[in-house]
Amino acid sequence: MQDSFGREINYLRISITDLCNLRCQYCMPASGICKSEHENILSFEDFYTITKAFSELGVNKVRITGGEPLVKRDIIDFIKNINKLENIDEITMTTNGILLEEYAEDLKNAGLDRVNISLDTLDPKKYSEITRGGDLDKVLKGIKKMEELNLTPIKINAVLIDGFNIDEIRDLVELTRFRKIDVRFIELMPIGEVLNLKDKNTISGDIVLEKVKELEPTKRDDPSSPAIYYKLPGAKGKVGIIKPVTCKFCKDCNRIRLTSKGFLKLCLHSNEEIDLKPHLDNYEELKEFLIKTILKKPEEHHLEDGDFVSKSMSTIGG
Ligand code: 5AD
Ligand code: SF4
Repeated sequence: MQDSFGREINYLRISITDLCNLRCQYCMPASGICKSEHENILSFEDFYTITKAFSELGVNKVRITGGEPLVKRDIIDFIKNINKLENIDEITMTTNGILLEEYAEDLKNAGLDRVNISLDTLDPKKYSEITRGGDLDKVLKGIKKMEELNLTPIKINAVLIDGFNIDEIRDLVELTRFRKIDVRFIELMPIGEVLNLKDKNTISGDIVLEKVKELEPTKRDDPSSPAIYYKLPGAKGKVGIIKPVTCKFCKDCNRIRLTSKGFLKLCLHSNEEIDLKPHLDNYEELKEFLIKTILKKPEEHHLEDGDFVSKSMSTIGG
Protein backbone atom coordinates (compact mmCIF):
# COMPACT_ATOMS: atom_id res chain seq x y z
CA MET A 1 0.00 0.00 0.00
CA GLN A 2 1.63 3.22 -1.17
CA ASP A 3 0.79 6.78 -0.27
CA SER A 4 0.84 9.60 -2.78
CA PHE A 5 4.55 10.22 -2.18
CA GLY A 6 5.50 6.63 -2.99
CA ARG A 7 6.08 5.60 0.59
CA GLU A 8 5.23 1.98 1.32
CA ILE A 9 2.90 1.99 4.32
CA ASN A 10 3.38 -1.27 6.21
CA TYR A 11 3.32 -0.34 9.87
CA LEU A 12 0.15 0.15 11.91
CA ARG A 13 0.21 1.43 15.45
CA ILE A 14 -2.94 0.86 17.44
CA SER A 15 -3.70 2.72 20.63
CA ILE A 16 -6.14 0.29 22.23
CA THR A 17 -6.97 2.51 25.21
CA ASP A 18 -6.30 6.04 26.39
CA LEU A 19 -6.36 4.93 30.02
CA CYS A 20 -3.17 4.35 31.95
CA ASN A 21 -2.13 3.11 35.38
CA LEU A 22 0.48 5.89 35.61
CA ARG A 23 0.24 9.66 35.31
CA CYS A 24 3.49 10.77 33.74
CA GLN A 25 3.81 14.49 34.19
CA TYR A 26 4.46 15.17 30.50
CA CYS A 27 1.68 12.93 29.31
CA MET A 28 -1.36 12.89 31.61
CA PRO A 29 -3.05 15.35 33.88
CA ALA A 30 -2.75 14.34 37.56
CA SER A 31 -6.42 13.45 37.57
CA GLY A 32 -6.08 11.11 34.59
CA ILE A 33 -8.41 11.02 31.63
CA CYS A 34 -11.91 12.04 32.63
CA LYS A 35 -14.57 9.41 32.16
CA SER A 36 -16.69 11.52 29.86
CA GLU A 37 -13.77 11.73 27.45
CA HIS A 38 -13.29 8.01 27.69
CA GLU A 39 -16.28 7.16 25.53
CA ASN A 40 -16.66 5.40 22.23
CA ILE A 41 -13.59 3.27 22.60
CA LEU A 42 -13.59 0.69 19.85
CA SER A 43 -14.17 -2.93 20.77
CA PHE A 44 -11.41 -5.48 20.17
CA GLU A 45 -13.60 -6.85 17.42
CA ASP A 46 -13.44 -3.51 15.62
CA PHE A 47 -9.69 -3.20 16.17
CA TYR A 48 -9.38 -6.65 14.68
CA THR A 49 -11.49 -5.82 11.63
CA ILE A 50 -9.38 -2.75 10.88
CA THR A 51 -6.11 -4.62 11.44
CA LYS A 52 -7.26 -7.43 9.15
CA ALA A 53 -8.22 -4.94 6.43
CA PHE A 54 -4.87 -3.19 6.68
CA SER A 55 -3.00 -6.50 6.68
CA GLU A 56 -4.68 -7.41 3.41
CA LEU A 57 -3.58 -4.06 2.00
CA GLY A 58 0.09 -4.50 2.90
CA VAL A 59 0.56 -3.82 6.59
CA ASN A 60 2.82 -6.48 8.10
CA LYS A 61 3.91 -4.82 11.35
CA VAL A 62 1.61 -3.95 14.22
CA ARG A 63 2.47 -2.11 17.40
CA ILE A 64 0.01 -2.04 20.26
CA THR A 65 0.16 1.08 22.39
CA GLY A 66 -2.04 3.08 24.74
CA GLY A 67 -2.35 4.73 27.20
CA GLU A 68 -1.17 1.54 28.80
CA PRO A 69 -2.22 -1.46 26.71
CA LEU A 70 -1.83 -3.95 29.56
CA VAL A 71 -4.64 -2.34 31.58
CA LYS A 72 -7.12 -3.85 29.13
CA ARG A 73 -8.37 -7.32 29.75
CA ASP A 74 -8.61 -9.36 26.55
CA ILE A 75 -5.38 -7.93 25.17
CA ILE A 76 -3.94 -11.43 25.11
CA ASP A 77 -6.77 -12.76 22.94
CA PHE A 78 -6.45 -9.79 20.64
CA ILE A 79 -2.76 -10.52 20.09
CA LYS A 80 -3.56 -14.20 19.49
CA ASN A 81 -6.10 -13.20 16.86
CA ILE A 82 -3.94 -10.76 14.95
CA ASN A 83 -1.04 -13.20 15.14
CA LYS A 84 -3.15 -15.57 13.07
CA LEU A 85 -3.51 -13.02 10.26
CA GLU A 86 -1.50 -14.30 7.37
CA ASN A 87 0.42 -11.16 6.47
CA ILE A 88 1.34 -10.00 9.96
CA ASP A 89 5.04 -10.71 10.56
CA GLU A 90 5.71 -8.72 13.68
CA ILE A 91 3.66 -7.72 16.71
CA THR A 92 5.20 -5.42 19.27
CA MET A 93 3.94 -3.36 22.17
CA THR A 94 4.79 -0.14 23.92
CA THR A 95 4.17 -0.43 27.64
CA ASN A 96 5.20 1.29 30.84
CA GLY A 97 6.17 -2.15 32.16
CA ILE A 98 4.25 -1.97 35.43
CA LEU A 99 2.17 -5.06 34.62
CA LEU A 100 4.74 -6.73 32.42
CA GLU A 101 6.06 -9.34 34.83
CA GLU A 102 2.52 -10.60 35.32
CA TYR A 103 1.67 -10.75 31.63
CA ALA A 104 5.01 -11.60 29.99
CA GLU A 105 4.50 -15.31 29.57
CA ASP A 106 0.97 -14.98 28.19
CA LEU A 107 2.15 -12.27 25.83
CA LYS A 108 4.88 -14.49 24.49
CA ASN A 109 2.53 -17.42 24.04
CA ALA A 110 0.03 -15.19 22.27
CA GLY A 111 2.64 -14.23 19.69
CA LEU A 112 4.10 -10.93 20.86
CA ASP A 113 7.62 -10.45 19.49
CA ARG A 114 9.07 -7.60 21.52
CA VAL A 115 8.29 -4.67 23.78
CA ASN A 116 9.31 -1.08 24.13
CA ILE A 117 9.29 0.03 27.73
CA SER A 118 8.95 3.65 28.73
CA LEU A 119 11.47 4.37 31.46
CA ASP A 120 12.92 7.82 32.03
CA THR A 121 14.92 7.23 35.20
CA LEU A 122 16.56 4.44 37.21
CA ASP A 123 16.05 6.19 40.52
CA PRO A 124 12.98 4.89 42.40
CA LYS A 125 12.17 8.29 43.94
CA LYS A 126 12.46 10.14 40.65
CA TYR A 127 10.44 7.42 38.92
CA SER A 128 7.66 7.84 41.42
CA GLU A 129 7.85 11.61 40.94
CA ILE A 130 7.71 11.71 37.13
CA THR A 131 5.02 9.00 36.92
CA ARG A 132 3.15 10.38 39.93
CA GLY A 133 3.33 7.25 42.04
CA GLY A 134 4.80 4.48 39.86
CA ASP A 135 6.86 1.67 41.39
CA LEU A 136 10.19 1.31 39.57
CA ASP A 137 10.80 -2.13 41.03
CA LYS A 138 7.83 -3.54 39.12
CA VAL A 139 9.21 -2.25 35.82
CA LEU A 140 12.67 -3.67 36.51
CA LYS A 141 11.14 -7.06 37.30
CA GLY A 142 9.17 -6.87 34.06
CA ILE A 143 12.35 -6.21 32.11
CA LYS A 144 14.09 -9.19 33.77
CA LYS A 145 11.18 -11.43 32.92
CA MET A 146 11.29 -10.40 29.27
CA GLU A 147 15.00 -11.24 29.21
CA GLU A 148 14.33 -14.66 30.77
CA LEU A 149 11.75 -15.34 28.09
CA ASN A 150 14.14 -14.17 25.39
CA LEU A 151 11.76 -11.54 24.11
CA THR A 152 14.72 -9.40 23.15
CA PRO A 153 16.07 -6.94 22.29
CA ILE A 154 14.10 -5.00 24.82
CA LYS A 155 13.86 -1.37 23.87
CA ILE A 156 13.77 1.19 26.62
CA ASN A 157 12.45 4.63 25.71
CA ALA A 158 13.71 7.48 27.85
CA VAL A 159 12.40 10.97 27.22
CA LEU A 160 15.10 13.61 27.73
CA ILE A 161 13.72 15.98 30.33
CA ASP A 162 15.55 19.15 31.26
CA GLY A 163 16.47 19.31 34.94
CA PHE A 164 15.29 15.74 35.50
CA ASN A 165 17.26 12.94 33.86
CA ILE A 166 20.06 14.55 31.87
CA ASP A 167 22.40 13.52 34.70
CA GLU A 168 21.31 9.88 34.24
CA ILE A 169 22.19 9.54 30.57
CA ARG A 170 25.35 7.60 31.32
CA ASP A 171 23.60 5.20 33.72
CA LEU A 172 20.89 4.52 31.16
CA VAL A 173 23.49 3.94 28.43
CA GLU A 174 25.26 1.44 30.71
CA LEU A 175 22.18 -0.82 30.55
CA THR A 176 23.21 -1.70 27.00
CA ARG A 177 26.70 -2.93 27.85
CA PHE A 178 26.02 -6.46 29.05
CA ARG A 179 22.35 -7.02 28.23
CA LYS A 180 20.27 -7.32 25.09
CA ILE A 181 18.72 -3.97 25.83
CA ASP A 182 18.55 -1.02 23.45
CA VAL A 183 18.11 2.32 25.15
CA ARG A 184 16.56 5.06 23.04
CA PHE A 185 16.60 8.67 24.06
CA ILE A 186 13.70 10.73 22.77
CA GLU A 187 13.54 14.49 22.54
CA LEU A 188 10.59 15.86 24.47
CA MET A 189 7.91 16.86 21.99
CA PRO A 190 5.84 19.96 22.64
CA ILE A 191 2.49 18.24 22.82
CA GLY A 192 -0.33 17.92 25.32
CA GLU A 193 0.63 18.07 28.98
CA VAL A 194 4.21 19.12 28.23
CA LEU A 195 3.04 22.73 28.32
CA ASN A 196 2.44 22.37 32.07
CA LEU A 197 5.92 21.04 32.86
CA LYS A 198 8.25 23.13 34.96
CA ASP A 199 11.10 22.68 32.46
CA LYS A 200 9.54 22.21 29.07
CA ASN A 201 12.57 22.96 26.92
CA THR A 202 13.38 20.38 24.36
CA ILE A 203 16.93 19.20 25.00
CA SER A 204 18.58 18.12 21.77
CA GLY A 205 19.30 14.41 21.48
CA ASP A 206 22.92 15.34 20.73
CA ILE A 207 23.45 15.73 24.44
CA VAL A 208 23.71 11.93 24.67
CA LEU A 209 26.82 11.99 22.47
CA GLU A 210 28.28 14.83 24.48
CA LYS A 211 27.78 12.96 27.75
CA VAL A 212 29.01 9.57 26.51
CA LYS A 213 31.94 10.23 24.24
CA GLU A 214 32.74 6.53 23.60
CA LEU A 215 29.53 5.96 21.65
CA GLU A 216 30.26 4.85 18.11
CA PRO A 217 27.90 5.16 15.14
CA THR A 218 26.41 1.93 13.77
CA LYS A 219 25.22 0.98 10.32
CA ARG A 220 21.65 2.05 9.69
CA ASP A 221 19.70 -1.14 9.07
CA ASP A 222 16.15 0.18 9.10
CA PRO A 223 15.69 3.49 7.28
CA SER A 224 12.12 3.85 8.53
CA SER A 225 13.22 3.70 12.17
CA PRO A 226 13.24 7.17 13.68
CA ALA A 227 16.24 6.25 15.82
CA ILE A 228 19.84 6.76 14.83
CA TYR A 229 21.81 4.05 16.61
CA TYR A 230 25.16 4.10 18.34
CA LYS A 231 27.00 1.56 20.45
CA LEU A 232 29.38 1.39 23.35
CA PRO A 233 32.43 -0.51 22.08
CA GLY A 234 31.72 -4.24 22.51
CA ALA A 235 28.28 -3.72 24.02
CA LYS A 236 25.39 -6.14 23.53
CA GLY A 237 22.74 -3.48 23.07
CA LYS A 238 22.48 -0.24 21.12
CA VAL A 239 21.85 3.34 22.07
CA GLY A 240 19.34 5.18 19.92
CA ILE A 241 18.66 8.87 19.59
CA ILE A 242 15.26 9.96 18.36
CA LYS A 243 14.88 13.56 17.33
CA PRO A 244 11.27 14.20 16.40
CA VAL A 245 11.72 17.93 16.96
CA THR A 246 15.10 18.94 15.59
CA CYS A 247 15.34 16.38 12.81
CA LYS A 248 12.75 14.91 10.53
CA PHE A 249 12.30 11.41 9.24
CA CYS A 250 9.11 12.06 7.28
CA LYS A 251 10.74 10.99 4.02
CA ASP A 252 10.99 7.39 5.24
CA CYS A 253 7.83 7.33 7.33
CA ASN A 254 6.03 4.02 6.84
CA ARG A 255 3.50 4.27 9.63
CA ILE A 256 -0.07 5.11 10.36
CA ARG A 257 -1.87 5.28 13.67
CA LEU A 258 -5.26 4.15 14.85
CA THR A 259 -6.59 5.83 17.97
CA SER A 260 -8.63 4.02 20.59
CA LYS A 261 -11.73 5.89 19.43
CA GLY A 262 -11.43 4.62 15.90
CA PHE A 263 -9.75 7.55 14.17
CA LEU A 264 -6.90 7.16 11.76
CA LYS A 265 -3.96 9.53 12.16
CA LEU A 266 -1.77 9.72 9.10
CA CYS A 267 0.88 11.82 10.84
CA LEU A 268 1.73 11.99 14.54
CA HIS A 269 2.15 15.74 14.36
CA SER A 270 -1.06 16.57 12.59
CA ASN A 271 -4.35 17.32 14.26
CA GLU A 272 -6.21 15.69 11.40
CA GLU A 273 -8.06 12.51 12.30
CA ILE A 274 -10.18 10.40 10.02
CA ASP A 275 -13.13 8.60 11.52
CA LEU A 276 -13.28 4.93 10.56
CA LYS A 277 -16.36 4.09 12.62
CA PRO A 278 -18.90 4.84 9.84
CA HIS A 279 -17.10 2.31 7.62
CA LEU A 280 -16.93 -0.63 9.97
CA ASP A 281 -20.13 -2.36 8.88
CA ASN A 282 -19.10 -3.05 5.33
CA TYR A 283 -15.70 -4.75 5.08
CA GLU A 284 -15.09 -4.22 1.36
CA GLU A 285 -16.13 -0.60 1.61
CA LEU A 286 -13.79 -0.18 4.60
CA LYS A 287 -10.86 -1.44 2.55
CA GLU A 288 -11.63 0.92 -0.29
CA PHE A 289 -11.94 3.79 2.14
CA LEU A 290 -8.54 2.92 3.66
CA ILE A 291 -6.85 2.87 0.25
CA LYS A 292 -8.27 6.33 -0.55
CA THR A 293 -7.45 7.67 2.87
CA ILE A 294 -3.80 6.62 2.83
CA LEU A 295 -3.31 8.91 -0.14
CA LYS A 296 -3.92 11.86 2.17
CA LYS A 297 -0.85 11.15 4.29
CA PRO A 298 1.00 14.45 4.43
CA GLU A 299 4.48 14.72 2.96
CA GLU A 300 5.99 16.04 6.16
CA HIS A 301 5.29 17.72 9.47
CA HIS A 302 6.21 21.23 10.48
CA LEU A 303 6.79 21.01 14.20
CA GLU A 304 9.67 23.45 13.96
CA ASP A 305 7.30 26.08 12.56
CA GLY A 306 5.18 25.87 15.66
CA ASP A 307 2.70 23.24 14.50
CA PHE A 308 1.24 22.06 17.73
CA VAL A 309 -0.72 18.95 18.51
CA SER A 310 -2.97 19.57 21.47
CA LYS A 311 -3.52 15.90 22.22
CA SER A 312 -1.36 13.96 24.59
CA MET A 313 0.58 10.78 23.83
CA SER A 314 -1.90 8.81 25.87
CA THR A 315 -4.50 9.26 23.16
CA ILE A 316 -2.30 8.79 20.12
CA GLY A 317 0.05 6.16 21.43
CA GLY A 318 3.47 7.65 20.73
N1 5AD B 1 7.61 13.79 23.99
C1 5AD B 1 8.35 12.70 23.75
N2 5AD B 1 7.99 11.46 24.12
C2 5AD B 1 6.82 11.32 24.77
N3 5AD B 1 6.20 10.24 25.25
C3 5AD B 1 5.02 10.62 25.81
N4 5AD B 1 4.86 11.95 25.70
C4 5AD B 1 5.98 12.42 25.05
C5 5AD B 1 6.43 13.70 24.64
N5 5AD B 1 5.72 14.79 24.84
C6 5AD B 1 6.78 8.91 25.16
C7 5AD B 1 6.55 8.04 26.35
C8 5AD B 1 6.63 6.67 25.74
C9 5AD B 1 6.28 6.86 24.30
C10 5AD B 1 5.00 6.21 23.93
O1 5AD B 1 6.19 8.24 24.08
O2 5AD B 1 7.50 8.18 27.35
O3 5AD B 1 7.93 6.15 25.81
FE1 SF4 C 1 0.98 6.30 30.88
FE2 SF4 C 1 2.89 6.22 29.00
FE3 SF4 C 1 1.51 8.45 29.40
FE4 SF4 C 1 3.24 7.64 31.24
S1 SF4 C 1 3.74 8.27 29.13
S2 SF4 C 1 1.13 8.37 31.63
S3 SF4 C 1 3.07 5.48 31.11
S4 SF4 C 1 0.67 6.57 28.66
